[in-house]
Amino acid sequence: MRLLDQTRLPQAQVWLTCRQVEDVAEAIRQMRVRGAPAIAVAAAFGVALAARQAAAKGATVAAVRAAAAAASQELAQTRPTAVQLFAVLAALRQVWEDPGVDSGQALAEHITRAAERLAKTDSQVNRKIGDWGAQLFDRPVRILTHCNTGALATVEYGTALGVIRSLHREGKLAGVWVDETRPFLQGARLTAFELLQENIPFHLITDSTAAVLMRAGQVDAVVVGADRIAVNGDTANKIGTYGLAVLCRYHGIPFYVAAPMATIDPSAANGQAIPIEERAAHEVTEVLGQPIAPAGTPVWHPAFDVTPADLITALITEHGVLARPNERRIRDWLALQDAAAAGAGEGDV
Ligand code: MRU
Repeated sequence: MRLLDQTRLPQAQVWLTCRQVEDVAEAIRQMRVRGAPAIAVAAAFGVALAARQAAAKGATVAAVRAAAAAASQELAQTRPTAVQLFAVLAALRQVWEDPGVDSGQALAEHITRAAERLAKTDSQVNRKIGDWGAQLFDRPVRILTHCNTGALATVEYGTALGVIRSLHREGKLAGVWVDETRPFLQGARLTAFELLQENIPFHLITDSTAAVLMRAGQVDAVVVGADRIAVNGDTANKIGTYGLAVLCRYHGIPFYVAAPMATIDPSAANGQAIPIEERAAHEVTEVLGQPIAPAGTPVWHPAFDVTPADLITALITEHGVLARPNERRIRDWLALQDAAAAGAGEGDV
């Protein structure tokens, strides 16, 4: 399994070869692949890799099942916040527990096909999110975004960056303000890399510049992604997102969260139920391996924060735009999607 090593971007485009599920787990842990949907799809292929290796050694159905289960357990321990990882592992469990498979080889093939379907679905979902998001605006707008939510963070196209891509394609994008996103610099390293490649107009800013831009009337909307959305609409995303939402409320600027429906965790009643990953101190005390703080400096480094639902103007999903998310509206929306799966239409709520 080959992954573009995102820790090396933008300086070098290095492809990493994962030969064992342990390599995939390590790549996720080290954020060589990151972004909620990309983590989930990489994990799906990690399970497929383990199943195929077992099948290649002539393993029985039971042994391939055991290999898939062990791989899933290992991958579930990589990063705790993004819920899609856990949703995808649960979906694959249904596949490897299917009693109707008669050989280890056939089971490994089923798991691989399921991983491929998950990847394809992510790409389709992103395009729909992009298009729903673009129809929110009827004139060229200046969007501020945080972290990286583009092709690198997903399978293709992106979520918040998908909205930006669709706006650009439709001639409704005046420019993008890209937060550098301390300390991992996903904005500076990855979003800037993607936007330059696509010739989408943008400026890179330090995270603390957002407020003065808003005060100067230079931001029409903030669009960010999400790692997990509680059923009341509280949203976990990259650290710094909550601050942007507070700034938007003060300045009267709409704040949108663009994310697949699979980001909604029905088992999380509110933001307090979302586990927030804390990462190693050296990510804060070093920049590109160079120390920037005295040795021994104590650090607190949560990788995500939670934006309360009442600061969110709308969720932009593959099924449409859900304005003013709260528990009742999200539960109705989830029920509507279940009905839609049985034949009803899509649209705004
Ligand atoms: O720590 P990361 O880089 O995995 O965090 C990524 C984010 O917070 C993204 O905004 C989120 O995963 C959505 S990606 C489409």
